[in-house]
Amino acid sequence: MKPKVFIARPIPQEVEEYIAGYCDVEKWSGEETIPREELLKAVHSVDGLLITGGKIDDELLDHAPQLKIVSNISVGYNNFDLDAMKRRGVLGTHTPYVLDDTVADLVLGLMLASARRIPELDQYVKQGKWRRGDDEIFFGADVHHATLGIIGMGRIGEAIAKRARFGFDMKVLYSNRNRKQEAEQQLGVIYETMEGLLKQSDFVVLMTPLTPETTRLIGKEQFSMMKRSAIFINVSRGKNVDEQALIEALETGTIRGAGLDVFENEPVPVDSPLLGMPQVVTLPHIGSSTAKTRLDMARVAAENLTKGVLGEMPPNLVKELI
Ligand code: DGY
Repeated sequence: MKPKVFIARPIPQEVEEYIAGYCDVEKWSGEETIPREELLKAVHSVDGLLITGGKIDDELLDHAPQLKIVSNISVGYNNFDLDAMKRRGVLGTHTPYVLDDTVADLVLGLMLASARRIPELDQYVKQGKWRRGDDEIFFGADVHHATLGIIGMGRIGEAIAKRARFGFDMKVLYSNRNRKQEAEQQLGVIYETMEGLLKQSDFVVLMTPLTPETTRLIGKEQFSMMKRSAIFINVSRGKNVDEQALIEALETGTIRGAGLDVFENEPVPVDSPLLGMPQVVTLPHIGSSTAKTRLDMARVAAENLTKGVLGEMPPNLVKELI
């Protein structure tokens, strides 16, 4: 008898077929994200679950007595209650490596878009407000030769640093739990304290995973240390930031602007003050969202899933569960 798996989000057909070669597949085919109650019902007799972002906690695990593995289609796994999974011997995997360059590209995109005010001025042109060229009201800030501070120097941080150093001649500072000597030598990045980084950077990019230690890592105190001309970029997780403090920092001119792919609550509420700010570029959590990268992520997640349900060691077990 084949193991049974539940696919809780849309994936490419070819990846579904690959999984079906090893497993009996049931899937969610609703338009919306699967509601929690449906998910709890669906996991009742499955050995494996393929998902992005749904909370894997005691409640879900109580509903899934046969579950062997949860395969996330994402690099982040803050949806895993690692203690609960460890206690029950449930494996958890993610999809690292394949999205590093795609996410790094988006960070540079957000830096350029916010510094050069691209979405704001796009609207200006489309609304027919462009009367004369070469006007100082269009001025933005330079990205090239500016100082970039990266908080959280993992693989994606390094991919951002590479683009910034060699593409834009930027000075790159980083803060991280561990010093990265190899990255310093190869990329010429400079290790800094968080305070030193916040005070010196023209662009502050937050790339930490969401953990209890990084929750609201950036708040009022950190914004007040940044330059008034600084642009804050977040492509990690919204909960790494005190969003109210960010709103205040932008409203009071404590910082110049922001580029945000992630929010405390997603989808971001339509009445969020962030949505009315021209100096803020907003995106709907699309860090890894290209057709090729999403296909690669789904393939990696499918391999993790099938290995896990067949009793083999999946290649991308999250490090806390090894
Ligand atoms: C992930 O995979 O965790 C990221 O949020 C990509 O956008």
